[in-house]
Amino acid sequence: MKTILELKNVNSYYGKSHILFDLSLEVKEGQSVCLLGRNGVGKSTTMKTIMGLLNPKVHDKTEGEILLNGNNIVGLTNFKIANLGIAYVPQGRHIFPNLTTKENLLIAKKTGLNGRNDWDIDRIYQLFPRLKERETSKGNKLSGGEQQMLAVARGLMQNPDLLLLDEITEGLAPIIVSQLADIVKELIKQGVTILLAEQSVKFALSVSEDCYILEKGSVVHHSPTSDLTDDVIEKYLGA
Ligand SMILES: Nc1ncnc2c1ncn2[C@@H]1O[C@H](COP(=O)(O)OP(=O)(O)O)[C@@H](O)[C@H]1O
Ligand SMILES: [Mg+2]
Repeated sequence: MKTILELKNVNSYYGKSHILFDLSLEVKEGQSVCLLGRNGVGKSTTMKTIMGLLNPKVHDKTEGEILLNGNNIVGLTNFKIANLGIAYVPQGRHIFPNLTTKENLLIAKKTGLNGRNDWDIDRIYQLFPRLKERETSKGNKLSGGEQQMLAVARGLMQNPDLLLLDEITEGLAPIIVSQLADIVKELIKQGVTILLAEQSVKFALSVSEDCYILEKGSVVHHSPTSDLTDDVIEKYLGA
């Protein structure tokens, strides 16, 4: 299997605060990989670092290598990285509140790398029938679960090689979380490569085959999710 994304000894800083410590991880084509860890361990910072969102103007910096399809992307702008085939669904959704569901989708549409054009609005509506039903509703009129589905769908509209999902289950009721799990499983079946950050262990284990657990900005555990023991879960992820 081809490696899509590889982080090698990545260190990230917000100004003088050192947040990620020699972080290494790998995502192969077609895989679903999860980053787990308690609040504040560096999951979102890992995502932002990959996307080139640490801001050098305020002296944020990233050291180490981030290889996307074999090319080092450290130092590239967010715009450039997005155009190299990564779609990022940030924590907190960030859909346009005053645009309709359909407008939110159409504005996100782009052709992916090497002409990749797997996703259009019809295929999105097949996967998310609820979004079709809500097509003419403004973003701010959608429920939390619908907004999250829209955020994921907007990522897919970019026809990415790799989809980053940052805590898509946050603040959602269990029934909605289980609907999202079904959608993510379907995406994996359809060949989408995914790196997701989660606090919900149950969700992550149900959709990912490989996992990294972070603590204080370092990887403290890496294994197939099926090898995660209750002891490890309790130690690093327990309340
Ligand atoms: N913009 C920022 N400036 C300074 N520190 C930050 C910033 N964003 C996050 N942090 C700090 O970085 C650490 C990791 O945060 P984050 O990556 O958001 O964790 P997680 O997503 O795992 O909850 C935390 O200690 C947090 O307070
Ligand atoms: Mg986070």
